[in-house]
Amino acid sequence: MIGQPAKRIVIGMSGASGAILGIELLQALQLYPGCESHLVISQGAEKTILQETKYTLQDVVEMADVAYPIENIGASIASGTFKAEGMVIVPCSMKTLAGIACGYSDNLLLRAADVTIKEKRKLVLVARESPLSPIHLKNMCALADYGATILPPMLTYYNKPISIEEMNRHIIGKILSCFGMELAGFKRWGEPSCTMHSL
Ligand SMILES: Cc1cc2nc3c(=O)[nH]c(=O)nc-3n(C[C@H](O)[C@H](O)[C@H](O)COP(=O)(O)O)c2cc1C
Repeated sequence: MIGQPAKRIVIGMSGASGAILGIELLQALQLYPGCESHLVISQGAEKTILQETKYTLQDVVEMADVAYPIENIGASIASGTFKAEGMVIVPCSMKTLAGIACGYSDNLLLRAADVTIKEKRKLVLVARESPLSPIHLKNMCALADYGATILPPMLTYYNKPISIEEMNRHIIGKILSCFGMELAGFKRWGEPSCTMHSL
C-alpha cells in the first residue's frame, strides 16, 4: 500500500529581525510526522541568526528535512513541478518583500516565492520592520492582492503571555494555522483555554 505523500512546506528565512521565529517554526514542524520542511536561508538571515540567537547556521540547517544553498537557482523548489503546500518566509525582510512584489527572482528564496505565487499556492510572509514606510506598505498591499498572507510578527495580548517565548509561540501557531495545522497549546480567542475575564 502506498502511504500518504509528505506535506511539504518551503521555509525561507531572510534578514529581518526575528530569526528565532524561523528557527521555532522549523522546530515545530519536526513534531508533525507527515510534514517535510524545505529550507532556504538568505545571506541576511545568516547574519541575524548569529546576531540574535544562540544557534549556528549549521544548527538551523540541520533542523530542516532538506536545505538548499540560496545560490542554487536550479534546486527543486525553484520549479512549479515540485509539489508543495506552500511557502512561509519567516522572518521576511523589506528587501525580500520588494523582490517578491516585483517578481525579481535573482536568488532561490525569491524564485521559490515567485513560483508559489504563480502556482497559486499559499504564501505566508512574516514581514518585519518598524516603522513601515509607504514603499513597504505598497509592496505588502501588492502582495496581498496577489494572494499572499501578510502575517507580521505582531504581539498578541489576549492570551496573556508571560514571556517572549510565549509571544513567539503564538506567532508560530498563527503561521501553522494558515496550513491547517494546530500547534499544541495554541490559545484561540473564545475557546475555554482563553476565556475573557469580566471587566
Ligand atoms: C541585526 C539586523 C537586523 C535587521 N532587521 C531588519 C528588519 O527587521 N527588517 C528588515 O527589513 N531588514 C532588517 N535588516 C536589514 C536586512 O538584513 C538587509 O536589508 C538585507 O539586505 C536583507 O536581505 P535579504 O532579504 O536577502 O535577507 C536587519 C539587519 C541586521 C544586521
